[in-house]
Amino acid sequence: MNKRILISCLIVCAAAAATVYGEDKAEADLKSLKEAYAGKFLIGAAGDLRGYSSDELANIKMHYDIVTPENSMKPQPTQPTENNFNFSTPDAMVDWCMKNDVKVWGHTLLWHAQTGRWFFEGPDGQPASRELALERLKKHIFTVAQRYKGRVVGWDVVNEAIDDRGTGRTENLRRSSWYTAVGPDVLTQAFKWAREADPDAELYYNDYNIEQGAVANTGKHASSMMLLKRLIEEGAPITGVGIQGHWHLDTNLADVEKAITNYASLGLRVAITELDVTATGDNSGEFNVRGGGTIPEENYQKQAEVYRKLFEIFLRHADVIDRVTFWGISDTRSWRGRQNALLFTGRLEPKPAFHALIEAASKNEAAPKNESAAKNEAAPKTD
Ligand code: XIL
Repeated sequence: MNKRILISCLIVCAAAAATVYGEDKAEADLKSLKEAYAGKFLIGAAGDLRGYSSDELANIKMHYDIVTPENSMKPQPTQPTENNFNFSTPDAMVDWCMKNDVKVWGHTLLWHAQTGRWFFEGPDGQPASRELALERLKKHIFTVAQRYKGRVVGWDVVNEAIDDRGTGRTENLRRSSWYTAVGPDVLTQAFKWAREADPDAELYYNDYNIEQGAVANTGKHASSMMLLKRLIEEGAPITGVGIQGHWHLDTNLADVEKAITNYASLGLRVAITELDVTATGDNSGEFNVRGGGTIPEENYQKQAEVYRKLFEIFLRHADVIDRVTFWGISDTRSWRGRQNALLFTGRLEPKPAFHALIEAASKNEAAPKNESAAKNEAAPKTD
């Protein structure tokens, strides 16, 4: 080996050692998100876990208390055709979680999307009758909820029943196949069956943009308040509301805070169930949103500030918020992949948003004692 090659080898080895040391050190210094928020609310992430690398699984164990299966417990994958159930992915996901001391949240039993057409087709090629559709719904809810009974903390029983762009003067229910086949009482019925199937599970209504209009009491928020009051009146055993939280750099934070207190005023618990803040472009729970392309570096600081302000709100209302779940674990394990909406890069490096949330938690601990004591007296945590 000549001298030049030997020197290059030494330089490469030294650089590699420095990187390894640097990463180890960074990892050792990295705080755990769930530990930072322990005692406030659970921190969650969405993921089906199939095909995840050991680094991704380690990231979940380190930072999250609870996982929501992103797709595998939905009606289409669990019952693609009538009576043909498929639980291989969610069973493996739940097993991993139980072995690793991670909780599971069930998602979802009644939804307009990712639901087989067969639910709504009659034997004669006509649309299914109300009775047939209800019978199928009952069987679906009982089979899925009983299978995971005792292993999930709760369920998003009904997902996204309210339509977009309403005035807020009515419930503005989405004219979905369930609505057409059964009518508006299908929502109450789903809650009742979920309660029978798993008496100990927390049961949630989950939707996106339902904070919008909270301050002015209009729009989707006003519709959600109307719907929730009706569900409660009809005896639906509902524990809480999931605000999905598919947000962006210009999300109206005053609406978010007001929505949380409005839901709490109905006696309901609140969770943020699908949080992501896009670093560019739009966001919502709708499937097609505008965004992508090159993201200016400064947007990651703006994103960190939005996340920080959101968590400051969540901390102020920690007495009614049980869980904050991110919709994915990294910018590549995310349905908003081109908009880099999460706390870690695809290589699991913490972004400015991650550091902002660790900092927000530590500042909160430093809050004067009498303030938190007063809050606890006014609104004791009920669970
Ligand atoms: C999304 C998943 O993230 C995607 O992988 C899938 O293709 C479509 O559904 N509201 C919900 C979630 O309640 O179930 C959706 O998840 C995102 C919007």
